Amino acid sequence: MKAFIFTVALVLGALSVSLAQRETSLRVIDALRDLHPSYRDLRNLVVNAVAGAKLNSSEVVYRFQVEVAARKESFLKSAISAEAGVLRQVNAQSVAVDTSCLGFLRQSVDVNMNLAGVSFTNCLNTVDGSLATELTRIYAELAVNETSYVNLSVYDVFRGQNVFVNPQTIVDRLVEKLSAVQQAPIELAQELAQLVDAFEGRLGNVQTAYSNCLTMNDQLLQTTLSTVLVQLQQICLGSLVPAASTSEPTEPTEPEQEPEQEVTETTEDSEPTEPEPAVTETEELPEPPTPGQAYVQLV
Ligand SMILES: *[C@@H]1O[C@H](CO)[C@@H](O)[C@H](O)[C@H]1NC(C)=O
Ligand SMILES: *[C@@H]1O[C@H](CO)[C@@H](O)[C@H](O)[C@H]1NC(C)=O
Ligand SMILES: *[C@@H]1O[C@H](CO)[C@@H](O)[C@H](O)[C@H]1NC(C)=O
Repeated sequence: MKAFIFTVALVLGALSVSLAQRETSLRVIDALRDLHPSYRDLRNLVVNAVAGAKLNSSEVVYRFQVEVAARKESFLKSAISAEAGVLRQVNAQSVAVDTSCLGFLRQSVDVNMNLAGVSFTNCLNTVDGSLATELTRIYAELAVNETSYVNLSVYDVFRGQNVFVNPQTIVDRLVEKLSAVQQAPIELAQELAQLVDAFEGRLGNVQTAYSNCLTMNDQLLQTTLSTVLVQLQQICLGSLVPAASTSEPTEPTEPEQEPEQEVTETTEDSEPTEPEPAVTETEELPEPPTPGQAYVQLV
């Protein structure tokens, strides 16, 4: 009798453990179901966050391009006004100055402007290449982040586990998973913002390199143009007219049309070999400024 009661108790005990365990196995499915909406929310959030990061990076590119155009414009204006200043000097020479010598100077100015055009293009080509590289990089980074968050597995908690043998372990893992999924958006937002910030920083470096490239070429052009002024006096035996008599082309920040008109006028003037009548007025100037002074006025 004693033995019988013991056996029954043992069987009942085993049965009750088994039933409780089966209930836990079913709770796994409930835990799994709880997870699904959270995963959907996370996926939607990731898609939106990455799209937002792409929009932000697009805005960064826009500001970058606006800035590139502004810098190019200011250097172009500076080059055009420097050219106009030198041509004004060349065209203002008296009839006594050898016209073929002046013609060579005009050619020299023209050739150096063309070379400056080549260097401006080279600077911009570098920018173009760098921008393409950076765009590829940020998109790849965003894609990696997007995939890694969207690809969070729901079912990896079942690996190495048996839903009938240790269901509680699975439930615990699913609960952990839920809190990880709920935490993910905060991490993602931070990571994406960092990626976009880093992208902006790298474009800033591209911008700086572009500016330096333009500045170097601009200095080179200014140097060659000031050499033309020295050649005007040393080789063509001309003399510089006072820079103060025309102040228009020396201002780089003027309305756009001013320097361009100046250039077209002077280039047209440079075609005929006879000096202009107006030029003779400047012939008898007592003290022509030194080349250095004239150059300072030009730039
Ligand atoms: C997001 O991208 C960055 C840059 O590629 C990477 O370092 C980081 O590990 C990514 N984050 C995730 C969660 O994949
Ligand atoms: C998605 O996750 C699984 C398991 O975590 C991994 O093996 C796979 O490479 C991932 N896929 C991508 C595209 O990241
Ligand atoms: C995008 O820009 C907005 C506004 O500046 C900002 O609130 C958001 O956090 C940015 N998103 C990313 C991923 O950088």
